[in-house]
Amino acid sequence: MTAIQLNDVSYHYPTSDFKLTIDQLTMTANLVAIVGQNGAGKSTLFKLLTGLMQPQTGNILINHHDLADLSPADRLKTIGIVFQDPSSQLFNATVEKEVAWSLSQTESDAAVIAEKVAQVLATVGLTDIKDKNPFDLSMPEKKLLSIATVLAVDPQIYLFDEPMISLDWPSQQLVTRLMQQLAREKHQVIAITHDMDWLAATFSKIAVLSDGEIKFEGAPAALFGQPELVHAVGLLPPRIMSIVSDVLGDSRVYLTPADYVAKHQTH
Ligand SMILES: Nc1ncnc2c1ncn2[C@@H]1O[C@H](COP(=O)(O)OP(=O)(O)OP(=O)(O)O)[C@@H](O)[C@H]1O
Ligand SMILES: [Mg+2]
Repeated sequence: MTAIQLNDVSYHYPTSDFKLTIDQLTMTANLVAIVGQNGAGKSTLFKLLTGLMQPQTGNILINHHDLADLSPADRLKTIGIVFQDPSSQLFNATVEKEVAWSLSQTESDAAVIAEKVAQVLATVGLTDIKDKNPFDLSMPEKKLLSIATVLAVDPQIYLFDEPMISLDWPSQQLVTRLMQQLAREKHQVIAITHDMDWLAATFSKIAVLSDGEIKFEGAPAALFGQPELVHAVGLLPPRIMSIVSDVLGDSRVYLTPADYVAKHQTH
C-alpha cells in the first residue's frame, strides 16, 4: 500500500494571490479523485506531488520518505504524471521514440526498452501508428500516447490531470479500465476530474479542494450526502441524483443509475 502524506504544506506562486494551504492530507486508497472548481489548486497540488515544484513550507512524505530527498530517477519511478494537455509532454519524432525516450530516463538496457515500448503501445492500442509523428495524432491518440510514456516507466503512483477531457467514448472506457487495473495491481492512481458521474462510478475516495484548502476527504456517498457543502465548493451531484430529486422529489444519495435501481429493487 502506498501512503502519501502532506504536512503543513503551503505554496504560492510569486506572480499570483493564490495560496495552497494543506495542513494535513493523507492518501492511502488505490483510487483517489481530486475535485474542485477552476482555480481551486488541483493542478498545483499535482505539481507539488511530482516534486517538480517544492512547497514553501511543510513536507510531502511518500511511504514515510520525504519526496524532496528522492533522486530524480527515484522520483520518476515513484510518481508519474499525465498532464491535462498531452502536447506539453510530447516532443520526439515518432510515437515509438516518445515512449522509448520516457523509459530511457530510468532504464538503460535497449532490449528491455524495446520490449516494454511494444507492450505499452499494444496496451493503449497505438501499435499501428508507432511510426507516426506525435504531433500528427488526434487528441485522444495524443492523450493515450502520454499515458503510454508513463506506463512504460511504471511508477508506483500515477497522477492523471483531467484524463477524460478530449477523449472519445471508447478511449474513456479504455483509460478507465487501465486505471482500475493499475489500482488492482497495487499502484496508486490519483485523478483530477470535473466529471461527477465518472467520479461517482469509479472512485472510492475523494478530496475536495476549494480556494487552495481541503474542504472534504472521504467517500463519494458521504460528500454527496452533504448538499450544502457540495454547493459551497461549487460542485454538482451526479446527474442521477439531480434527475431523481427534480422528477421524484427524492433527495437521497444515488451515485449511478445502477445504484438507484439496486436501492429500489423489491425482494
Ligand atoms: N504558473 C503559475 N503562475 C502564477 N499563477 C498560477 C500558475 N499556475 C496556476 N496559477 C494560479 O493558481 C491558481 C490555482 O491554479 P491551478 O492550476 O492549481 O487550479 P486548478 O484547480 O487545477 O484549476 P482548473 O480546474 O481550471 O484546471 C489559479 O488562480 C491560477 O491562476
Ligand atoms: Mg488544473
